[in-house]
Amino acid sequence: MVWVTRRLPKSVERALEEHFTLRWQRGDVPLTPDELLRAFREADAVLCTVTDRIGAECFAQPHRRVEVVANFGVGVNHLALDAARAAGVMVTNTPDVLTEDTADLALLLMLAVLRRAGEGERELRGGRWTGWRPTHLLGARLGGKTLGIVGLGRIGRAVARRAHLGFGMHVVAWTRTPRVPDGLGYVELAPSLDALLARADVVSLHCPATPDTQRLMGADQLARMRRGAVLVNTARGDVVDEAALVAALESGQLGGAGLDVYEREPEVHPGMLAREDVVLLPHLGSATVETREAMGMRALANLLAFFDGTDPPDRVA
Ligand code: DGY
Repeated sequence: MVWVTRRLPKSVERALEEHFTLRWQRGDVPLTPDELLRAFREADAVLCTVTDRIGAECFAQPHRRVEVVANFGVGVNHLALDAARAAGVMVTNTPDVLTEDTADLALLLMLAVLRRAGEGERELRGGRWTGWRPTHLLGARLGGKTLGIVGLGRIGRAVARRAHLGFGMHVVAWTRTPRVPDGLGYVELAPSLDALLARADVVSLHCPATPDTQRLMGADQLARMRRGAVLVNTARGDVVDEAALVAALESGQLGGAGLDVYEREPEVHPGMLAREDVVLLPHLGSATVETREAMGMRALANLLAFFDGTDPPDRVA
């Protein structure tokens, strides 16, 4: 039996039903910690999402039955991977299929912040728009600016392509593997994060959440950004110290921020909610019909491979 922790696109639910006995979550809310423990005792597999914080206690408990966890998503920082390995439980994710849509969303946030789109929409809907005027809500052009990409994995590379080829941005990147990937000859590698921060007009985060990247963007790093620069985060909330970000915006050190992910989702720092120069989205990076269906089919393929006794394509533990 496969325990599915959230509702999925209909086509994915139907495809899962063709292959497995399923246990669905009632309603579309995350499982409680007790329900997760129970799922691990009763199911052979759990198909989970980013909203399931699956700690070591699930993997290490006596009478655990689960043999494989298929995560619906690429990020796996919500799963205790070491505990899974120690318990011999396989974990898979869904890379590749969400790259392009997440990269689109990063560009959407850059444009929305620089062109003050959120502010304009709020003004119009609030009945405060008095009509066109030459000095109304002037923003800044994205084209020609320097983009600093932190993390040059699949999504970082897709953002680099869009920014350079689509908008004529100059792209600087900082990555753990200091090598420009094939086909990205226009990307300049920064020797350090500090060097990137000192150069970029817009900094876009595309690194995974790991102990090394926890609060990678803290008060010191935000202070090293160019005055008036913009921070965009479509990676994970843990990578940014939200309180420090609010302080940097309040002091004018940063000119704005575009966020899709938060430290304590679905909570958002109140200081952020109050600001006009911040665009806030509710974790929508992969939220297109095309991508969510593809993610579901990829999770299904991983489960099928596991139960067929072959190597799942996207094993992470
Ligand atoms: C991902 O795939 O990691 C997205 O953030 C949704 O979980």
